[in-house]
Amino acid sequence: KGNFVIAIDGFSSCGKSTVAKALAKQLNFVFVDSGAMYRAVTLYFQRHQISLTDDAAIAQAIQDIHIDLVPQADKIQVLLNGEDISDAIRTMEVSEYVSEVSAIKAVRKAMVKQQQALGAKRNIVMDGRDIGTTVFPHADLKIFMTASPQVRAERRFAELTAKGEQLTMEEVKDNLAHRDHIDSTREESPLRQAEDAIVLDNSELNQEEQLAFVVDLVKSRM
Ligand code: C5P
Repeated sequence: KGNFVIAIDGFSSCGKSTVAKALAKQLNFVFVDSGAMYRAVTLYFQRHQISLTDDAAIAQAIQDIHIDLVPQADKIQVLLNGEDISDAIRTMEVSEYVSEVSAIKAVRKAMVKQQQALGAKRNIVMDGRDIGTTVFPHADLKIFMTASPQVRAERRFAELTAKGEQLTMEEVKDNLAHRDHIDSTREESPLRQAEDAIVLDNSELNQEEQLAFVVDLVKSRM
């Protein structure tokens, strides 16, 4: 098929996008943060007060939402109908609602379609929850990342407080547990480790070690 697809899945705040980003840079692959797409949809739903039980409003919203991921030097800019929402989607407000929105079948169907189109012809690294199971079941390499709950919460807390958000460690832990629960128990493509995924537990690994681990795997399969 020509192109090489790397799928990275796992629970919230396991460091998936950090590894994915570094990997894409090193290999000169396109990096796609699928979570950013669900966050963009969530922001739109919040702004337009779309009820999660109003199927018609949801269908219309999906039609009206256009998401672009624009690669920049050290990050991906996320555009929602042309507006830069890269920072707006990282707030706790969005995090508290994103799993509810992501559980909606019509939302997933639309996002998966876009994600598959993005990876159709290019070398790509995509991170998310269902990339190896649903979006690219035939990915060339599937990684399932894990980290201890404590490590994950600490990372998330540091990230959010650095941006000036006022919140407690307890709130961060609750949000991670809440999202993990919904993400892994929803009916439509729940978070699961694909059978052929390789587990990367990064609780004890630094970024260089994680990157080296995955790069070796890619090389062995290219
Ligand atoms: O990756 P991130 O933590 O930004 O994802 C935010 C949320 O988006 C997840 O908690 C999950 O509810 C949803 N998501 C998903 N499927 C993906 C990626 C993210 O349902 N492939």
